[in-house]
Amino acid sequence: MKKFFSVEDVIDIYDLIKEALFLKNRPYDFRHIGKNKTIGLVFFNPSLRTRISCQKAAFNLGCHTWVLDVHRDSWTIEMNDGNIMNFTQEHIKEAISVMSMYCDILAVRTFPNLSDKDYDYQEIIFNKILNYSRVPVVNMESATLHPLQSLADVMTIAEFTSFFKKRYKVVLSWAPHVKPLPHSVANSFSQWISKIEQIDFTITCPERYNLHKKFSHGAYTTHNQNEAFINADFIYAKNWSSYLDYGKMLCKSSDWMITENKMKLTNKAKFMHCLPVRRNVVVEDAVLDSRYSIVLEQVKNRIYASQIIFLKMLESLS
Ligand code: CP
Repeated sequence: MKKFFSVEDVIDIYDLIKEALFLKNRPYDFRHIGKNKTIGLVFFNPSLRTRISCQKAAFNLGCHTWVLDVHRDSWTIEMNDGNIMNFTQEHIKEAISVMSMYCDILAVRTFPNLSDKDYDYQEIIFNKILNYSRVPVVNMESATLHPLQSLADVMTIAEFTSFFKKRYKVVLSWAPHVKPLPHSVANSFSQWISKIEQIDFTITCPERYNLHKKFSHGAYTTHNQNEAFINADFIYAKNWSSYLDYGKMLCKSSDWMITENKMKLTNKAKFMHCLPVRRNVVVEDAVLDSRYSIVLEQVKNRIYASQIIFLKMLESLS
């Protein structure tokens, strides 16, 4: 594997989930593969889970890591071509090329600006990174996608369904938030879950919050949250800003919060969220703290999702 940007870089999603779950049982079986190898983790935006789970995944494979928080630790980066750099110190072309000289795999997180839809949805920044890196690149969340999160999410669903033993209803529910958020988790989850044949996938969100069709075409979308919850086996809560009115926060109603009462409409559904989550804004304490919440299982699987991707890249180096 030379690049992991989205599910489209995966040959067989079922095999990948199985291989990742194998690593969960035997995390140190491939320690020899990472000997004398370095993974660079570059963050243009904050992270808790992605940063630490990737470091743990690399450790399991015997790799060294370095981490760069660009805004805190480095020069100000110029993202645009042709600018007179009076106010920025290093161009992304040099920054990425240089960093790729200091590692065997480069993993990068960038966020959208949420103001220019075309700029974000063409993944201008991530494509520059792919272009300038001399080594394989992993997407640790880009303007529109978060594939390592989604792989961990589908692994978690696989575990709780005995590997998709029968048909299951999975619902991605928009939930309130105090500020506009990226679409990446919702887009990416939609893209990955739609590849699982045994899943009936529903998205529920307020009017004008429909996701881009490129990602949501495999789903039934409804603006009636209660209707969506009926007989659901999994509820995945996430906020995102409007796609149609790009980056705007159109709905501020707490009516969309995930509550214990709404969960009663489901088929004893498991509750999922990528974290971080704002308690009693996105979801009631009673749901997050219930035995149906599997958010920590998702968190645990972040390690093995990263580990299988790093492993496939390391294998392709030798
Ligand atoms: N879910 C997730 O990506 O968390 P972080 O932003 O903390 O990495």
